[in-house]
Amino acid sequence: MTEKYKNIVILTGAGISAESGLSTFRAENGLWNKHRVEDVATIEAFERNPEYVHDFYNELRPELYKAQPNPAHSAITLLQDKYPADKISIVTQNVDTLHEKAGNKNIYHIHGQINQIVCLNCGHIFETWNDVHADDVCPHCHIQGMLKPNIVFFGENLLYMEKVDTLLKNCNLFLSIGTSGVVYPAAGFVQIAKMCGAYTCEFNMETTSNNYLFDRHIIGPAGTTLPKFVEELLI
Ligand code: OAD
Repeated sequence: MTEKYKNIVILTGAGISAESGLSTFRAENGLWNKHRVEDVATIEAFERNPEYVHDFYNELRPELYKAQPNPAHSAITLLQDKYPADKISIVTQNVDTLHEKAGNKNIYHIHGQINQIVCLNCGHIFETWNDVHADDVCPHCHIQGMLKPNIVFFGENLLYMEKVDTLLKNCNLFLSIGTSGVVYPAAGFVQIAKMCGAYTCEFNMETTSNNYLFDRHIIGPAGTTLPKFVEELLI
């Protein structure tokens, strides 16, 4: 095996979870075709009608709890276990926990996690797979009505950005898996990695909007294409 890449960053989007039976956002039957982003995923929507927003995530939570990782997640586990890089990091836009369930390491949930709740009063973050309601009390500061799903809504800052910026600037292989590349700043990560000298490769079912920034395009379901790619890297 040639130790070609010292630092690898893997950006993932909803497409990597599609073969686990989870809906993507922008497909015909995707979440954003059934719900308006303005009603369930903006900070204004949450301020206007927190119970409605909680209901949306309460409905989604059990589905994500049940979902199981697919061969694309397992391929990342294999890569992290066997490839002699200094660091292989996962930057995910997904709020599901399939990377964790597959045993992946070094995971940064830049859009938050479905199983985390943040208190807007004291900042305390706790984990739960249970329903949460607008009038619930924070288990830490005991103030009522301040709990929010720890999911980054449009209009909020992404999580771990400083760390991710450093990872992108220092990586020499950048993989983008199952993301449409339309939501910034994640859509711009490929540009940072490429400018800093990384080889860039995307895995998708179709051509994406920032396609020209990738050195290699691997078209097909990630559950098939990623294990093959990892196998090639491990030769
Ligand atoms: P999208 O729904 O925008 O895009 C999913 C991408 O995955 C598409 O480009 C599909 O072609 C591709 N895809 C589908 N099945 C695949 C498969 N089996 N293998 C490989 N690729 C596949 O989802 P994201 O790009 O993740 O943010 O969306 C980005 C953000 O927009 C989300 O994190 C979410 C949303 O608004 C928040 O909610 C904060």
